[in-house]
Amino acid sequence: MGTWQSNEAQPLSPESLDALFSNRIPAIRIPGFANPAECRAFAEGLRRCKLRVVKGATDHSAPSFEAQKIAFIGLTQFEFKYKPIEDYLDAAEASRTEVAPVFAASFNPVERLMGRLRDCVESEVAIASDPGGRAYSATIIRSSNEGLALHADFAPYQAPQLTVSDCTAQLAWNFYAEVPGGAGGHTTLHNSPWSWQRNRDGEIAENYPLPYSAVEGAQSFTFRPEEGDVVLFNSRNPHEVFPVAEPNGKDRIAMATFIGRKPNGDLHLWS
Ligand SMILES: [Fe+2]
Repeated sequence: MGTWQSNEAQPLSPESLDALFSNRIPAIRIPGFANPAECRAFAEGLRRCKLRVVKGATDHSAPSFEAQKIAFIGLTQFEFKYKPIEDYLDAAEASRTEVAPVFAASFNPVERLMGRLRDCVESEVAIASDPGGRAYSATIIRSSNEGLALHADFAPYQAPQLTVSDCTAQLAWNFYAEVPGGAGGHTTLHNSPWSWQRNRDGEIAENYPLPYSAVEGAQSFTFRPEEGDVVLFNSRNPHEVFPVAEPNGKDRIAMATFIGRKPNGDLHLWS
């Protein structure tokens, strides 16, 4: 893994998508992925849902981060890392029901993004599923002004029980439905792909938070979300989200999934 060839987010194209998987560029931005009316309807749809609240990790090496409160619907594999796969699959089914009203009120960002990806690759673009055909979850919608501590996401280390654990590279993408305009709320990526040595079969890496020593001296890239935009980045690079300093009555509302590139080049989405 080398240095990024550019320190700017690139438009989505077959070339930039391949460069992002190969970690030759820091990020891809799709401006105007959703229009203002769709963003408003998405945020309002989310506010009508009953959100679950979790506390993130406390990183003692970064005094600005206390345990961050995140309100969300949908799910992440993270919550199921020590549970049987059936629990994750059952929860994935329930989470599709949970997010359906938000998509119905506005639009389905996952379907729209998969369409954009299909314009870029010849291979299959699909929501990941287990060998029996049960679909994985592919939605987490978060409302949080409190940030996320430094961490990285890479299924081969973190999700040995999932079919995506054989992916050779992994991206994360966020659709930003609502963004407070003031200071903070930005995301910083560090070009220092996470590596971890498994000691025994099935062992799962702890990744949240990662120590800052993991990114010392690395190239970094910071972006500020804009309402309606999608930003994709290589999630194996450690990344952190800074707390919103001036909410101005708004929430930082983002929908995300991962995109794994399988050994045969297929792209599988999950959360
Ligand atoms: Fe992440």
